[in-house]
Amino acid sequence: MIKPNPNIAVMAPYALPDISAAEGIEAIVLAQNEHAFPPSLKVREAVMAALDKGQLYPDSDWNELRAAIGGVHGLDIDKIICTAGSMELMSTLMLAYMSANDRLLMCEYGYLFMCTLARLVGASVDTAMEPNYRVDVDVLLSELQPDTKIVFIVNPGNHCGSVIHNDEIRRLRSALPDDVLLLVDEAYAEFVEEDFHAPIFDLVEQGNTVITRTFSKIYGLAGLRVGWGYFPGEIRDQLRKVLNPSSVSVLSQVAARAAMQDQETAGLARRQIAQQRDYLSTQISSLGLTVVPSQTNFILVEFVSADSAASAFEFLRNHGLVVRPMGGYGLPACLRITIGTGEQMQLTAETLAAWQDQHHG
Ligand SMILES: Cc1ncc(COP(=O)(O)O)c(C=O)c1O
Repeated sequence: MIKPNPNIAVMAPYALPDISAAEGIEAIVLAQNEHAFPPSLKVREAVMAALDKGQLYPDSDWNELRAAIGGVHGLDIDKIICTAGSMELMSTLMLAYMSANDRLLMCEYGYLFMCTLARLVGASVDTAMEPNYRVDVDVLLSELQPDTKIVFIVNPGNHCGSVIHNDEIRRLRSALPDDVLLLVDEAYAEFVEEDFHAPIFDLVEQGNTVITRTFSKIYGLAGLRVGWGYFPGEIRDQLRKVLNPSSVSVLSQVAARAAMQDQETAGLARRQIAQQRDYLSTQISSLGLTVVPSQTNFILVEFVSADSAASAFEFLRNHGLVVRPMGGYGLPACLRITIGTGEQMQLTAETLAAWQDQHHG
């Protein structure tokens, strides 16, 4: 029998969460950080029209999509790369730059897919603690090793939802050696209220920082798989050697372009999500539970114990509300809840209050 590479053979299968509700109940899934709203009419119309070109391969340079992204963010479109979700960008970057002798440094509650990728290429992973659910630049720097090649941060963070302020990111970049790449995953950046965060794409100009974003979150296209990133020219050239040139389908490219051009819808979604996030956070806090302040479309809720979190999870699930247990991420006393529609958030708040009454009332 053919043998897999040794580092693949020892890996556990990629574990997808169980998002089914109790038997016979239709699930409201609040476990995946998906957008609360379906794609807009403009996106649907663009996709329907593009079906006429379904027999052709997609534009492997994503010209129209890059122009739309560059136009909205004021970026040099030559430095933009588009992929089938930002996960593909991360895989490509790791394949191109990391090997068995290298180390990845990430945060305690960082995005675990990066660990999977590191294992795939045989690289080692160091993690920096996140005191009070926040990335601490000094702690990160204290974990830097001579062979650290990539430092990975998520801003705002998944799973905590907290923001690393730009001056801290700049301080991190300045303290890192020049040949260490800083990867900033900004999957949730569009949810951040403007006062909290200005774009930091200018760091890319220094040549040793890359920034990834996605259409899966505020643009609501998780199922269509489009991510994009901003890269120094040299890194872009290396990534293009590794990338599947046809991974972003014709339909996905036009959908993403239409969504990017419709900033009004994205702005409206940002405000609606913020409103529901505030509502749910207030309701849950009033039950005596701790809610980590979030600038994303999810909140992390801390219960008094792992047993208490497990009991709340089951209670919610029995009422059709599927949230994310966090034991697998080192947070057994927490649940992560995606912000959904007003109706879903009201139901979630009421159901948690009912759980609280039954268990502690
Ligand atoms: C922090 C973070 N980065 C990246 C992704 C993946 O995004 P995409 O759908 O673009 O591959 C996710 C998805 O949940 C995420 O939470």
